[in-house]
Amino acid sequence: MKIIISKIVLSFIFSCMFVYAAYANTNTTQFEFEGMDVNAEHIAIFIDKDGALSEAVANISAKTDGRLETALKDAEFEGEFGKKLHLYGLSPFKSIIVVGAGEGALSVRQLRDLGGYVAQASNNNHSLSVITAGLDTTVEQSAAQLAMGYALGSYAFKKYKTKKEATGKQQTRTVSFHSDGFKAAKTLFETDLNHVVTGVKFARDMGTEPGKTIYPESYAQGVRKLFNGVANVKIEVMGLSQMKRNNMGALIGVGQGSVHDPRLIIVTYMGGERDMAPIALVGKGITFDTGGISLKPNKGQWAMKSDLSGAAAVAGTLYAVAKRGDKVNLVGVMAMAENMPSGDAIRPGDVLRTMSGKTIEVMSTDAEGRLVLSDAITYVQKEYDPRLLINIATLTGSAARAMGEDYGVVITRDWDLAQDMMRIGKVAGEDVWPLPLNKNHYKAIRSDIADIKSTAGNPGASIGAAVIGTFVDEGRKWVHLDIAGVDWLSKAKPTTPKGHAGWGVRFLDAVVREEQQAE
Ligand code: BES
Ligand code: ZN
Ligand code: MN
Repeated sequence: MKIIISKIVLSFIFSCMFVYAAYANTNTTQFEFEGMDVNAEHIAIFIDKDGALSEAVANISAKTDGRLETALKDAEFEGEFGKKLHLYGLSPFKSIIVVGAGEGALSVRQLRDLGGYVAQASNNNHSLSVITAGLDTTVEQSAAQLAMGYALGSYAFKKYKTKKEATGKQQTRTVSFHSDGFKAAKTLFETDLNHVVTGVKFARDMGTEPGKTIYPESYAQGVRKLFNGVANVKIEVMGLSQMKRNNMGALIGVGQGSVHDPRLIIVTYMGGERDMAPIALVGKGITFDTGGISLKPNKGQWAMKSDLSGAAAVAGTLYAVAKRGDKVNLVGVMAMAENMPSGDAIRPGDVLRTMSGKTIEVMSTDAEGRLVLSDAITYVQKEYDPRLLINIATLTGSAARAMGEDYGVVITRDWDLAQDMMRIGKVAGEDVWPLPLNKNHYKAIRSDIADIKSTAGNPGASIGAAVIGTFVDEGRKWVHLDIAGVDWLSKAKPTTPKGHAGWGVRFLDAVVREEQQAE
């Protein structure tokens, strides 16, 4: 009893201490869209692979009395895609960022990458004008796609840096994208793409924050803050007593070793017809994964602060879709718990009774993601009967070893659906690649004393999917995403800086868009 009271007091104190602050970069960036009148000190331009200057860039070069063209020749700059060059002193400009645009017509993904390259080359202390006219593309409002790439590529988490960088002053800088038809680009960016950016940034913030500040209840507060004032959204945060009433023995079990109680967060967005079945997104939200009694080794354990990446992607996606005001019904369920070892923690060999009634023998307390997801999935099927169920989780090291940092694992029971996911991911800029799930994987998780056991060796990613699949209704359209490899980058990509990727917001957002068109 004493322990219970001190737990309650402790979690209350911690909840009060936590404030989800807006993440203060030294400078805030404002995005503008303008015509071809360029009066800036710092600019960015793009050069095709054939080296020929577009009319827009030729006009810029003329302002430098042709010295820009000479500089490009002297630098032997050939416009290879993503290649960067920084030129100084070509007055009237103080600096010119040159980025290669490569060969052929640019896709949405490539346009975003180009924006990201500019962001990574630019000095964040002054304003910048990006000349987007003249790019070889058939994509409409390409300036908006470039801006999205820039916004994603310039993300930085500076909350815990005490020294203000460079000037030391907080200032607003403007990044302007210059094109013809800039008004439509501005509209697309402000009413759509920028909401996706905000969703990705939220996910990155949550995945980067230490476990000390982000635990189930503080995460729930972050979600509440994110959705504050967003229309047609309802947020429910389920605590321990309600979980007990729902017999969620798996989620409760995983969370019971921590001073921070688990939470099941349900965010619904009802933008579609009232009677239309929703799409459900279910995310693993382990705010820190020590492995529990099956303790993880020391090396790299700090990175387990981002074991809530699935849940963060779910929140970010719901935000983007809701802010855009899509005509769709969407439910996001986030299964939040901290996986800690303690005298109260579950043990290897324990048997947990899930909400579905099925029992799971816990072979390793480090295979906790599948446990929390089993109850979340049962809940969402029972309450919402979704027409499409997608779960997303940093589930297995096995997925990370198979795919590295370039592909999320997709597992489905339907090859057409897997192929749809690959196609959507490719366009969205977050790739997935399939792994199998068949009856042998289900056979492997048979338990001697319970209905199933939680682990069964190799192939780890498919075994994990089989455990989760045990709780997915037969015949339900289901996609399992294992993002253990892609959620954290050791090296920057154009639109994703090193660190937490916020992986899944762009992917899931694209899936939701496509599902609406398919209706
Ligand atoms: N959160 C980890 C998976 C993970 C590993 C994510 C590396 C990101 C990077 C998960 O909870 C876990 O510990 N999985 C175990 C499962 C095993 C015990 C069957 C693993 O993959 O080792
Ligand atoms: Zn985990
Ligand atoms: Mn684990």
